[in-house]
Formats: sequence, C-alpha cells, structure tokens
Amino acid sequence: MRKEYSQSSLEREHLCDNPFEQFSRWFEEALEFEPHEVNAMTLATVDSNSAPSARVVLLKSFSADGFIFFTNYSSKKGGDISVNNRVALLFYWPQTMRQVRVEGSAFKIDPSESDEYFNSRPALSKASSALSKQSSPLENRDEFDKRVNTLLGSGAEISRPDNWGGYSVKPDHIEFWQGGVGRSHDRFIYSLEGSQEWSITRLYP
Ligand SMILES: Cc1cc2nc3c(=O)[nH]c(=O)nc-3n(C[C@H](O)[C@H](O)[C@H](O)COP(=O)(O)O)c2cc1C
Repeated sequence: MRKEYSQSSLEREHLCDNPFEQFSRWFEEALEFEPHEVNAMTLATVDSNSAPSARVVLLKSFSADGFIFFTNYSSKKGGDISVNNRVALLFYWPQTMRQVRVEGSAFKIDPSESDEYFNSRPALSKASSALSKQSSPLENRDEFDKRVNTLLGSGAEISRPDNWGGYSVKPDHIEFWQGGVGRSHDRFIYSLEGSQEWSITRLYP
C-alpha cells in the first residue's frame, strides 16, 4: 500500500546546516516511502572529448567523506573517470516528489575497503565480477556463463580483481529539490565554492 506523503514545501528552516545530514534525513524517508531501489542513482561522467554518458549504479554507503559505489575500473565509466574525475550523481524519489543532485570529484577508495565489500558479496556476484570485462563487446553470452559456472564449481576462493572496486564521490554541490502539490517547487543548493563551509542558496524553481 502506498503511504501518503504530505510535506509539500521546503523552507530554509526545514534544512540541516550540513548537506550530508540533510541527505541522510531524505534517504531515511525514501527508505520508508519508496518501494524500490532507493539507493539507485544515476552517475554521469564525461569522456576525453567532454561527451557525457550516464548510467545507474547503486549507492553502497555515504558519509561526509563521500558517496560510495562499486564498479569495474576498466569499464566505460572507469575510463571516463580516469581522464576526468568530475562526475554528477542523481537520485529521484517519486513517492516523496524529491530529487537530489550531487556534483563533485570521484576518487578510488582504499583497496582494503574494496576487498572488504567484495568479500561480502554472494559467490555468483564475485565470479561474475571477476570474469566480466564490463563495457567491452561480448561475443558469446553462453561461453561467459560457462566460465562463471566453472569458476563457481571449482570451489576456488575468488578474490577481488585489481580492476574492480569502489569510488567515492566527494561533493562540492548538493541540490535538494522538493516537488509541491498545487504550488511551485522548492530548490536549495549547498555549495562549498573553495571554502570549508557549506553555503545554502534557494534557487528559482
Ligand atoms: C538498478 C541498477 C543498478 C546497477 N548497479 C550497478 C552498480 O552498482 N555498479 C555497476 O558497475 N553497474 C551497475 N549497474 C549497471 C550500470 O547501469 C551499467 O550498465 C554498467 O555499470 C556499465 O556502465 P558503463 O559501460 O557506462 O561503465 C546497475 C544498473 C541498474 C539498472
């Protein structure tokens, strides 16, 4: 059953001074109200010609240090980030009529943290990640499945490949958008602008 969500306006006094606390509050509410994939976010990157590219990845954790997701470092997105680590993340939570836009720089996380997460994954995910050349042409899907099953069946310990791990996106801008029923929408952007202090600005909808 869909829960009714009633907040329809956002005022400065509703907002936390710190954008990570604000994100955490909205994320908790999204967990309560959104039926699916609350942690799914669109990741936008650009390549060496500044051509943009976007895809969905899963947010695994967040803190004041950044927003963390895991992927194949040799993938299209990994290649893009290696030439330009400026990225954008986008969350859309329709039940609460909310959007969060994050802009910042992506950095590989410490390999020990990637090991820890990789080792916690189910065997099938490990085998598939270990053998996938993510974003490269795949000529024969059956052959890939066979290799995954052979690796699984061997019972061998599957360790994290060097080209698989996490990125942390350290933001300098985070915008919170609240849709309203029967009124115009509200937008507030938190910006670092070279300082250590976050400023908060209301934007025209
Ligand atoms: C709901 C959803 C969650 C996904 N989560 C991830 C993820 O956490 N990591 C990842 O590498 N790809 C994830 N994918 C697949 C990506 O969208 C994408 O197809 C893949 O990473 C290759 O992207 P690239 O070729 O731009 O590098 C997910 C896709 C969907 C639809």
